[in-house]
Amino acid sequence: MANVTFSAPSLAKNVTVYAVAGDPKHSTLLALAKAHGIQIPCQCQDGECGSCLVKITYLGTNQQRAQTLTEKEKLTLSVNGKLTKDWLAKAENDDITPPYRLACQYIVADEEILVEFSGEPGVEIDLRR
Ligand code: FES
Repeated sequence: MANVTFSAPSLAKNVTVYAVAGDPKHSTLLALAKAHGIQIPCQCQDGECGSCLVKITYLGTNQQRAQTLTEKEKLTLSVNGKLTKDWLAKAENDDITPPYRLACQYIVADEEILVEFSGEPGVEIDLRR
């Protein structure tokens, strides 16, 4: 069972939803958000535009492994400056997943996560608030 909390300035309060890991109807974070009326900006829905940028914080003990990063996601995050060479090396060599991900590419697993997004396409959440 996945426990996913969405947080954004556009939401009146944080929204926590539950999902069955691997459910094809809610397999991605973007699909899960849509199913619960949470609007994460998205344009291509195919990992190419970067508009669905989210920051993931693992709250439980089941941290997702970095191999779930697709080549397309690596490229888009790198081009948009959200996947540094250091984080790419950690992902590829140490299997540590980076903090910024694309909601349309992120497959929800059996995990407890906080998903933060700005509400503006491709703009990272301002963590100073
Ligand atoms: S919607 Fe374009 S990368 Fe996710």
